Amino acid sequence: MEFTRLIEQRRSTRVFDGTPLSGDLANELLYAASKAPNACNFQSWHFYALDQANIRKLVPDVYRGDWILRAGAAFVICTEDGKLTERFGERGKMFALQDTAAAMTMILLKAADLGWSGCWLGAFDPESCRKVLDIPEGREPVAIAVIGRTENIPPQRERKPLETVCTMVGDFTAAESSGTEPEPFALRTGNYRGAVFFDLNLMDAAFDDVSLHGARFNNINMSGTRFTDINLQNASYAGVNMAGTRFGARDAEDICVSMEKAEFTQVSFAEAVLRCCKLQNVKLEGCDLTGLTIDGMSAKEYFSK
Ligand SMILES: Cc1cc2nc3c(=O)[nH]c(=O)nc-3n(C[C@H](O)[C@H](O)[C@H](O)COP(=O)(O)O)c2cc1C
Repeated sequence: MEFTRLIEQRRSTRVFDGTPLSGDLANELLYAASKAPNACNFQSWHFYALDQANIRKLVPDVYRGDWILRAGAAFVICTEDGKLTERFGERGKMFALQDTAAAMTMILLKAADLGWSGCWLGAFDPESCRKVLDIPEGREPVAIAVIGRTENIPPQRERKPLETVCTMVGDFTAAESSGTEPEPFALRTGNYRGAVFFDLNLMDAAFDDVSLHGARFNNINMSGTRFTDINLQNASYAGVNMAGTRFGARDAEDICVSMEKAEFTQVSFAEAVLRCCKLQNVKLEGCDLTGLTIDGMSAKEYFSK
């Protein structure tokens, strides 16, 4: 999933549908955790991965909320700060805590990336947890991530306005005016038949009222791009990231994007939205269609009708 969408999609979820998390997925989450930044790369953490049946061991002594029983798995994260305190004294403990926080964040973000939800639990009883999981001295349980499946994604929780929690030191407007953040690419009204786009970053670009008949797009980041009122017939796309891209206006009622005979090879359409597109004889090869919707249907539903 495109990163900004991922961080917006993640939110604490406390209602799950009871689907168990497979060992493969648990390993994917643990792999993400292991890639977190950590002090001296000592990796001063230890993870206990509990499958769904074993979550029961946590309720009610370790954590009193029985909603976690419907999660698919739980990850108890401990600090193991021996090496860090040897080197940095008391400060080493704080480093280890930060390591585990970074690892937790990775677990929750990776879960969201895979279409799962979760919640970070801090308000649990660490001593009961130690007993239940037989955690040895030298390891401190600091947090639990419960991960589950749900259709009931809660709304995003508001954050304070950035200016109330940020102190900007220095003059960032100078960087803005020096043009380090270019405006997203836009192509409006015209005939660009057969145009070639190659090795470009066109993130968040806009294409409106243009003919790109037979155009070729190769090795391009087009995530978040908008295509409205476009002729893309016979166009070809290879190695293109179209995650979160929108084809067709939100309020379109008639065909506004013609894509007949267009060819897409190794294109990511993750979370992309197609509306009012003509898709006859479109060829898709090795494309990621995760979360793609076409006229409100999943790609699978659309192509099987
Ligand atoms: C250190 C920490 C401890 C937390 N402990 C709990 C907890 O014990 N129970 C719970 O339901 N949520 C807990 N949360 C989740 C927060 O309530 C949640 O992240 C916060 O309300 C913001 O909502 P969001 O994650 O949906 O953006 C904890 C989060 C953090 C970072």
